[in-house]
Amino acid sequence: MMQVVGGSDLLLDGLKRVQGEIDSVFDAFLPVPQDTRARLIEAMRYAAIGGGKRVRPLLLVSTAELFGVDRTAALRAGCAVEAIHVYSLIHDDLPCMDDDDLRHAKPTVHKVFDDATAVLAGDALHALAFEILADDGTSSDPFTRSELMLTLGAASGMNGMAGGQMMDMVADEEGIEYDLQAITRLQQLKTGALLAASVEMGAILGKVPPEGRAHLRAYSRDIGLAFQIADDLLDVSGDEAKAGKALRKDQSQGKQTFVTLMGADKAREQARALVDQAISHLGSYGTEADMLRSLARFIVERDR
Ligand code: IPE
Ligand code: IPE
Ligand code: MG
Ligand code: MG
Ligand code: MG
Repeated sequence: MMQVVGGSDLLLDGLKRVQGEIDSVFDAFLPVPQDTRARLIEAMRYAAIGGGKRVRPLLLVSTAELFGVDRTAALRAGCAVEAIHVYSLIHDDLPCMDDDDLRHAKPTVHKVFDDATAVLAGDALHALAFEILADDGTSSDPFTRSELMLTLGAASGMNGMAGGQMMDMVADEEGIEYDLQAITRLQQLKTGALLAASVEMGAILGKVPPEGRAHLRAYSRDIGLAFQIADDLLDVSGDEAKAGKALRKDQSQGKQTFVTLMGADKAREQARALVDQAISHLGSYGTEADMLRSLARFIVERDR
């Protein structure tokens, strides 16, 4: 289990528990077949089991807990979000994107397997996410299942993660210069959308009507932005051994981030202000929302 700095005991215990649980759920969903698809499933397991912090599943499970949702159901939905996240990382690391050799302190999927297998492992994890949500093991209510799929689909595609990744990839093209507003949008799509979907899906499982989700949405919008600022700060000042991935690459790859736009000190200030603001949106909840508060703080103080 990974050692993580920057979290309270509550948060570290919560992460550790969810890390073990998500590993088990992936393990159960990904038996290796005795045929020539084995390489694909081996690659999916290599990427999905062990390694990640599991921030998105913990967000989902902790939100669902506010509304008394069954933990098995919340973990399945958390596994679906994590499947999208893992797929996005496999593709993000490919030579045609960020070209990275290290992820979760081990060689990236395309290094251990090959580019084609990495593309297919991402594709199959993407599909797995929606299979999990469409199955009645996640919810017996077809409306709930449909809302979960709609929310995750919207957060993953052109108006979410993939759209943000496109904005990120074209940032180094000549003549493209993002201002604060554009970088905010890029980060909200690339990273914020999946984090926000995690919170939203917890509320959906809890049968909270959309009008009852406003405070939670405000919370997740702020932590989504803070999360990517923290990742960009780690890129300039983090420790590679702790992060388990190559750092100090964003500038040379022409990435445009809060850090490149306003400098590290201002960006850190901004991230901390966002976290305070996120926590202030949870004012209507008592101690039952302490995990969400701790998660918000962890997001900017983390070392990986
Ligand atoms: C890294 O996300 C990529 C971004 C969206 C910034 P995480 O920091 O959540 O990645 P893992 O899964 O915990 O390594
Ligand atoms: C990736 O952002 C966001 C994704 C949607 C995968 P980065 O490219 O900054 O993430 P790292 O630094 O490789 O983890
Ligand atoms: Mg990238
Ligand atoms: Mg990257
Ligand atoms: Mg990064």
